[in-house]
Order: sequence, then structure tokens, then C-alpha cells
Amino acid sequence: MNILVTGGAGYIGRHTVQSLLEQGHSPVILDNLVYGHRDFLESAGVPYYIGDIADAALLRRIFREHSFDGVMHFSAFAYVGESVTKPDIYYRNNLMATVELLDQCVDSGIKTFVFSSTCATYGEATEEFISESHPQNPINPYGRSKWMVEQVLKDYEHAFGLKHVILRYFNASGAHPDGHIGEDHEPETHLIPLVLYAAMGKRPDIKIFGTDYDTPDGTCIRDYIHVCDLADAHILGLQKSLTDNVSINANLGNGSGYSVKEVIDACRKVTGKDIQAVEAPRRPGDPPRLVAMADHARQELGWNPRFADIQTIVEHAYNWHRKRHD
Ligand SMILES: NC(=O)c1ccc[n+]([C@@H]2O[C@H](COP(=O)([O-])OP(=O)(O)OC[C@H]3O[C@@H](n4cnc5c(N)ncnc54)[C@H](O)[C@@H]3O)[C@@H](O)[C@H]2O)c1
Repeated sequence: MNILVTGGAGYIGRHTVQSLLEQGHSPVILDNLVYGHRDFLESAGVPYYIGDIADAALLRRIFREHSFDGVMHFSAFAYVGESVTKPDIYYRNNLMATVELLDQCVDSGIKTFVFSSTCATYGEATEEFISESHPQNPINPYGRSKWMVEQVLKDYEHAFGLKHVILRYFNASGAHPDGHIGEDHEPETHLIPLVLYAAMGKRPDIKIFGTDYDTPDGTCIRDYIHVCDLADAHILGLQKSLTDNVSINANLGNGSGYSVKEVIDACRKVTGKDIQAVEAPRRPGDPPRLVAMADHARQELGWNPRFADIQTIVEHAYNWHRKRHD
């Protein structure tokens, strides 16, 4: 398949480019490098364009120069806290620019659009395991911008026949097993890299925000899913949508949760370092537990996560961070 990958110089996009290549497909990257990495672009060895998805002239050129079977859309802003103070840039980049991109996809006869959505579209969990039918009540502009794109996609399917694969990720984590690509956000807000930075002496400690939640050890529980498993699901989703001419909505998670303390312990075990953990008050808006009901993706896509255990996820992440930062 020939695939346009927006945000392909970022964390999940670049891993998906790698998986596409490993499976014999032909990705083309579009990224404005606002958060992406030039070395990720260059190491991919695929055609790339440095530019913005809202640049209609550039998009027209890209669609003229290539014939795509599908588009995988990873580019977005993804800092929940920032989205509360700067909702304008979130709605502009995540919603309005995506509509620009969708219009070009429709004009170019793209059949399927694969969209990076998020468990943040569900808001507060009302079930122990969040299934695709869980109510969607996002509680911040980031989650709302993603939810709005989901609605646009349904309307575009109805009006223009553009199929979609909406994938709602839980916590993307880990790195490619060979360690040449991995997670490198600036600023970093995700737990596993932050704990590993503490292990590597790049920060003094790791803060645990809230130890009095109604969970077995009092700390928040999240569902961590390996980035290469996420990448595989995108390829399976696009193939299924193209073959069966269907749209798909699926959660991408492991279906098992780990608490903040369990993640820190896994990092201590993998690194052999005595990581300093400091207890701090709860942060507003952090729900106690967010864990996917992840059966649908397995059944509908035949998806079988290869790196489901937290130990392997942390090992791969540590391998990458040592290469990148030591
Ligand atoms: N990381 C997670 O745990 C997680 C969880 C749920 C959903 N998501 C979603 O997955 C996607 C990828 O996340 P990530 O962690 O890889 O983020 P990332 O910041 O590493 O990658 C996003 C990429 O998009 C690029 N970009 C942003 N706006 C652009 C624009 N207007 N035009 C062109 N390029 C642009 C950035 O330069 C960056 O390279 C995002 O849509 C995010 O909302 C991520």
C-alpha cells in the first residue's frame, strides 16, 4: 500500500512508518517538525515533505505526486494541560487543519482515512473497562478536538463516502525493539520516560500525583500499549477497511492496567536503579483508572499485541533512552 503518514516525524507516526516498511508498504511522510524530529525523517529513508497539513497548496502537490491507498493522520497537538489554557491552537491544529486535510483526501479520491484518536474522548470512566460504546464526554479541549474530528469523519463518510478507521489509543509507550527510534517529546509528560529519566539522573526524582485514590495501592491506574503494537493495528485497520469497504472504530489498549507505583517498580527492576519517588497531591482532572476493553480490535482486526507486558515495554523504552540521551 502507498500511504501518506502525517506526523510521521513524531513518536507514533515514525514507528508506524517503520512497521509499514517492515511489512513491505510504501509510506510518505508529511510533518512540519513543530514537535517531530529531523533525524526521524532522515532515518526513515522514505519520501518526506516538511510542511503543514493546513497548507492546501502543498497537499495538492503531494497528492499529485503520489497515488495513495490511504492516509494515516497522526499529526496533532497532544498536551492536555496546554489545551485548557490555549484551546484556540488545539481547535485550529487538531480540528480545522484536519478538515483541510480531509477535503484534500476527498478531492483526491482517498478511500480510507486512519485517525489517531484517544481515550480522552471518553472523559471520566463510568465502567471498569472502557469499551467503544462507553459514553464520550471529553473533559478538556484536547479530548474535545479529537471527538469533534470523529464526528466530522462520520459526516464525511455519509456525504462523500470517505471511510475511516478511528483508533482510540490508551497510553502509547515503549520503543522499537532495536532501539533506533523511540519516544522523545519536549516537554515530556508521559510517565514511563519520566521515570526512566529519573533512573538515568536526568531529573532528581519522579512525582507520584495522588496516593489516596480508590485503587489497590492508592495510585492511578492506566493501560500501557506498546507503540509497535499500535503501529500494527493501524496497518490491519487500513487493510480491513480497504478490503471490506467499511469504517472501523476501535480502542487500542492492552486491557490490563498498571498503577503508577507498579510502573515505577517495573522501571526499578529493568534499570537496576534506585529511583527516588516523591508523593505529591492529586492533579485536577486525573481519573483514578483508565483501562481499555480491547477485545474489539482483536476480534475485528485480528490484532494480537506482541509486547503486552509492562516489563518488555519498559525494557524497550530504556534501551532507546540510553542510546538517545547517554
Ligand atoms: N502518545 C500517546 O500516548 C497518545 C495517546 C492517544 C492519542 N495520541 C495521538 O497520537 C498522535 C501522535 O502522537 P505522538 O505521541 O506521536 O505525538 P508527537 O508530537 O510525537 O507527533 C505528532 C507529530 O505531528 C507533527 N505535527 C503537528 N501538527 C502538525 C501540522 N499542522 N502539520 C504537520 N505536522 C504536524 C509534529 O511535528 C509531530 O512530529 C496525536 O494525534 C496524538 O493526539 C497519542
